Amino acid sequence: MDRAIAIQVSHLTKTYDAQTAVSDLSFQVYVGEIFGLLGPNGAGKSTTLRTLITLLTPTSGTASVLGHDTVRESDVVRQLIGYVPQERAIDRFLTGREHLELLGALYHLSKAEATKRIGELLKLVELEEAADRPAKTYSGGMKRKLDIACGLLPDPKILFLDEPTLGLDVQSRLRIWDYVRMLKARGMTIVMTTNYLDEADQLCDRLAIIDVGKIKALGSPAELKVGLGGDIVSLTLKDLTKIPALVSALTGQPAMRTVKATAIGLDIRVDSPEKALPAILESANRLDCRLEFIEYHRPRLDDVFIAHTGRSMTESVQDIQTV
Ligand SMILES: Nc1ncnc2c1ncn2[C@@H]1O[C@H](COP(=O)(O)OP(=O)(O)OP(=O)(O)O)[C@@H](O)[C@H]1O
Ligand SMILES: [Mg+2]
Repeated sequence: MDRAIAIQVSHLTKTYDAQTAVSDLSFQVYVGEIFGLLGPNGAGKSTTLRTLITLLTPTSGTASVLGHDTVRESDVVRQLIGYVPQERAIDRFLTGREHLELLGALYHLSKAEATKRIGELLKLVELEEAADRPAKTYSGGMKRKLDIACGLLPDPKILFLDEPTLGLDVQSRLRIWDYVRMLKARGMTIVMTTNYLDEADQLCDRLAIIDVGKIKALGSPAELKVGLGGDIVSLTLKDLTKIPALVSALTGQPAMRTVKATAIGLDIRVDSPEKALPAILESANRLDCRLEFIEYHRPRLDDVFIAHTGRSMTESVQDIQTV
């Protein structure tokens, strides 16, 4: 079945001064899905999103939203979308309701329509009770809920969320996931960025993994994981000098797909653990190789990220933060 296309991005490149933020991105978003851009800090997620919502002009390439070019028809595009930016846009002194009223005036909603819509949105994001308190008294999670209500005020066909749960506690994150799923159930198309692997895994129907401005992999979380082929056995060795010997003993054995040395042991991709584990234990025993720890897991999105970028997503986030 052909699926209706909400967003078409073709060879999109964006350069700031000398620095290329995103390079030759091409992807589609289908109507009614939750599409994610997953990547570490600086990968180019916000840049991509800001191009789609017409805030940035591509250096080259094109993007269209529901068939309308984001440069030539930016006015039309703006009427179809809602946007929740990564940075908080909440004014400290206005109440939650006043924020929405101000925005309603910017969108030229009639007083009656604005009042009705604002009432519905405050209910949706569970801010009815706090609506008439200054937003400066809100918790991080409440501010984010208000941000989302602001993005929804124009009743968009497509909602863009830039890092919707960044820095929130677990409970608030789960609530926001619930809202996003509810919006999808109502037929809205959602495009979001995240650098949380679990968020991409659990919330997104499809995602593009992006790193240093390029798409590394694209598909549903399940497809991406299956695409890796095989489950993963990670070994931690007591004596690290034995790693090369165990790698060569295991490489080529029928139950092992790939065998890779790591800093502390080995990562082995296997088809079936029932066959692989006895063979691994047998080889380790024969080489007198003490195994300190054995971990077995189904492929996770982090494994997908590692397979396509050569490093762990959590490592890359930490690297940047410590610079
Ligand atoms: N206005 C700007 N001027 C110059 N360089 C910029 C500008 N905005 C972003 N960049 C650079 O472009 C690259 C991509 O940035 P972008 O904000 O799109 O990444 P991101 O994936 O959203 O990161 P984060 O997870 O930190 O939000 C980075 O190297 C960043 O330093
Ligand atoms: Mg960003």
